[in-house]
Amino acid sequence: MTLADPFGREVTGLRIAITARCNLRCLYCHHEGEEVRSSGGREISAEEIVEVISAGASLGVKRVKLTGGEPLMRRDLEEILMRLPGGLEISLTTNGTLLAGRAGPLAEAGLDRVNLSLDSLNPRVYRRITGGTEEDLKRAMEGIDGALEAGLLPVKVNMVILKENEGEVWDMVEFARDRGVILQLIELLDRSGRGIGGDIAGIEAALDREAEDVVTRDMHRRRKYFLSGAEVEVVRPMDNTQFCSHCNRLRVTSDGRLKPCLLRNDNLIDLAGADGEETKRRIEKAVGLRSPYFCEKRR
Ligand code: 5AD
Ligand code: SF4
Repeated sequence: MTLADPFGREVTGLRIAITARCNLRCLYCHHEGEEVRSSGGREISAEEIVEVISAGASLGVKRVKLTGGEPLMRRDLEEILMRLPGGLEISLTTNGTLLAGRAGPLAEAGLDRVNLSLDSLNPRVYRRITGGTEEDLKRAMEGIDGALEAGLLPVKVNMVILKENEGEVWDMVEFARDRGVILQLIELLDRSGRGIGGDIAGIEAALDREAEDVVTRDMHRRRKYFLSGAEVEVVRPMDNTQFCSHCNRLRVTSDGRLKPCLLRNDNLIDLAGADGEETKRRIEKAVGLRSPYFCEKRR
């Protein structure tokens, strides 16, 4: 069974924000494209998360990414993982500060791998970017070790390139090499236009000069650089129409609504009150609403 939208793009991934709560406040945080609510708002239930993933799996979804906010703010994550159907690749995007003690139990409950954010190794810079303390930075590093020990592999470490941290890229490359993690350098998505992004093009040119091997991965044209044992990926949506034409995910918001596009908030479908067949119908409806935001010819 496969799910395709009216533009022929197959949906193989679900990206679910399981909470909007977070213990950090990163300068760049795009809140997964959700409208920022002043307070409260409901949070998707464990039941709804299990339902939407199970229904998605029966419709051909292969990969599930759990995000937030900070997904580890939820105490019931292990329990949710244990209730999911087999055969899916399940990954978690986390700031890592709450991970160390839970990496083992999460892996046992069925989590496959993690992406951790680590925007700086320098406590002052880390604090400026994430609002986190030196203790948080220490815990994020322990989270990386915990993930490695628990076998949540490959461990990927995300660094959003900002003016604040662009000078630290080579230290991070060395860190990634030492720990055996993949470093992902991420271009800032800056819709607020504050101009806080760093020079990722310059960094990429330098990687290109230094690397002994370069591989262009998949259709998002992600480049992977190998530098004496370090693996570095550069995540840049170089061309929006290309990016949208290869988008294969459906999002779920932290308040339990299917979100056909990261960049739109006018076509969400609520999952409340649905289960089984009805959840499948709502997924199919949301997939039918998917349309490339950046498109050569607008339909
Ligand atoms: N630009 C790029 N990436 C972002 N992330 C969050 N906000 C942004 C943004 N504005 C990504 C980062 C972070 C993860 C939680 O989400 O990779 O590590
Ligand atoms: Fe946003 Fe993630 Fe930073 Fe929390 S840790 S503020 S969710 S980017």
